[in-house]
Amino acid sequence: MQARFDFTGRRVFVFGGTSGINLGIARAFAGAGADVAVASRSQEKVDVAVAELESLGATAAGYALDVRDADAVAAALEKHHDGAAPLDVLVSGAAGNFPAFANDMSPNGFKAVVDIDLLGTFNVLRAAYPYLAKPGASVINISAPQAFVAMPMQSHVCAAKAGVDMLTRTLALEWGAAGVRINSIAPGPIADTEGFRRLIPTEKIAEQARRSVPLNRFGSASEIGDAALFLSSDAAAYVSGVVLPVDGGWSVAGAGAAALAMSQHAHGPG
Ligand code: NAP
Ligand code: COA
Repeated sequence: MQARFDFTGRRVFVFGGTSGINLGIARAFAGAGADVAVASRSQEKVDVAVAELESLGATAAGYALDVRDADAVAAALEKHHDGAAPLDVLVSGAAGNFPAFANDMSPNGFKAVVDIDLLGTFNVLRAAYPYLAKPGASVINISAPQAFVAMPMQSHVCAAKAGVDMLTRTLALEWGAAGVRINSIAPGPIADTEGFRRLIPTEKIAEQARRSVPLNRFGSASEIGDAALFLSSDAAAYVSGVVLPVDGGWSVAGAGAAALAMSQHAHGPG
């Protein structure tokens, strides 16, 4: 059940908000009464997400863009603003991931993920700042346990998400005086998502991963949505610069367990 927060009339923009966890966040804000915009590369995914958000009763808008293209990000934000009220909530969640050992990864493979996750987040934050409600805006970057726990086959994501969290902390310092709060959410393994499918590809690995979660289950996109509502609400008015794991205790237990199992799977017995 979605937590009860009232965002009626608030304006929310979720970058990467057309599927998975980020769409769960967009849905949560739509259900709480907000106007919601989403953006990602695929026009088809954008159209489907906007239709779903509208079916929840929200005023919704969508933009097809690549967060690696700073000009495209800026243009979408400018078009979305167009005389309207500033943004109350900004979420930066676009990301890419594929499991690969560093020795098997080309420089361009490493760069692709760093460019989407880290440079893309910088592009989004930098372009959105002029359009944020000041004071009072809440910014959320979507991190991952890879930011603070090393995982095999995840060198690109570990480096990128650690960078995202340092952006969160640094901008909490730079934007605090304007009354803008910025935090990260680090989801644990979230069922029915692309990230989950890529990192937990078999039933056997899923069973091991589930057992490594203290709550003994995977999370849902709606539970990440609840955390985003909380962090953007008055209940979190004095919270800025934190990385909030929403992972059933996974990071405390040792978030590397699932990726380690995958690594052993890739190497085979012996
Ligand atoms: P997902 O559905 O693939 O979400 C990624 C979103 O970003 C999609 O909407 C995708 O849409 C968009 N995107 C990707 N590259 C983009 C680019 N270059 N420019 C603009 N948009 C782009 O995967 P997910 O698993 O839900 O992951 C969502 C977030 O949660 C990510 O930040 C991920 O790192 C984080 N996370 C996930 C898990 C998990 O268990 N799934 C755990 C920890 C953290 P397009 O393809 O249309 O561009
Ligand atoms: N193993 C090793 N390298 C890989 C790879 C894999 N499984 N998948 C892609 N790469 C490499 C490519 O070979 C390429 O490097 P090269 O030019 O040296 O050959 C580089 O990554 C970029 O690939 P490309 O397909 O051009 O990138 P893209 O920008 O179109 O897509 C990705 C970005 C690779 C991250 C793609 O998986 C994607 O779009 N992901 C979004 C969805 C997602 O990952 N969701 C989960 C979020 S947690």
